[in-house]
Amino acid sequence: MPVITRQIGVCFAAEVDGIDMTGPLSADEVAAIHAGMDKYAVLVFHDQAITDEQQLAFTRSLGEIEHAIGTSLRAPDEYRRPTTFADVSNLDQNHKVFARDDRRRLFALGNRLWHSDSSFKVIPAKYSLLHARSVPSKGGNTEFAYMRAAYDALDDETKAEAEDLICEHSQIFSRQQLGFTDFTDDERARFKPVRQRLVRVHPGTGRKSLYLSSHAGTILGWPVPEARFFLRDLVEHATQRQFVYAHTWRVGDLVMWDNRQTMHRARPFPAHEPRDMRRTTLAGDGPTVAQAAA
Ligand code: OGA
Ligand code: MN
Repeated sequence: MPVITRQIGVCFAAEVDGIDMTGPLSADEVAAIHAGMDKYAVLVFHDQAITDEQQLAFTRSLGEIEHAIGTSLRAPDEYRRPTTFADVSNLDQNHKVFARDDRRRLFALGNRLWHSDSSFKVIPAKYSLLHARSVPSKGGNTEFAYMRAAYDALDDETKAEAEDLICEHSQIFSRQQLGFTDFTDDERARFKPVRQRLVRVHPGTGRKSLYLSSHAGTILGWPVPEARFFLRDLVEHATQRQFVYAHTWRVGDLVMWDNRQTMHRARPFPAHEPRDMRRTTLAGDGPTVAQAAA
């Protein structure tokens, strides 16, 4: 069955019909999904009643899985899923909603800041695939911002200033913004900053994007407060409503986004309600700092 895409966001994001994730994909379907991702950056697939295994198989048909190892405050024996999944639910290993002051929950609230997945890793993520198993009675949208349109809309002077800048990203920087600072020595070592270019060229389209994320905390060679303001102004610019698509979840939705040309954030919902969202992630091609200067 052909893949039909219908744009749903102002300037990006589309819905896809005719894909059944419970079975294998044809080569044509795989190619159509990649082409759709290059073009729309966010794809929404409704009514996918899939198991973890089917989500993994679907993800693997598109590329290599990125493992979520040591990226949350969950200890290895507190994982609900194998590391082929990033657990973005608010549930503990016994499937109970975290207490409001649970440290793992408070750390995970960082997902409500605008970010790009794994920008705190030397090789950051390519696509993320988030599947809704249970959703709260209200709130809990996920918002996406289109970093390619945001880049295009910058004035020439800002484009030139940003062009060759290198930022340092760490989960410590994002959590600092929330007043979450009580990291152990082991966590500090694990969350050591990594370098990312501020302007990325997308390999599929050759188009430039702002590579922003709340994990970005410094710009090499810049005083920290000045770097923070420059980044803050860029985030403010890039998340204006004309660059944003807000997804309201239904159980069975799978939303796939390209972390190389979008940012996203979770929105609040009642703290005592379960929200079971399961993410698989495709590994990126290489470090962004290796990208040849355009
Ligand atoms: C993620 C993420 C946002 C949400 O899965 O990477 O940031 O709405 N999720 O759960
Ligand atoms: Mn995320």
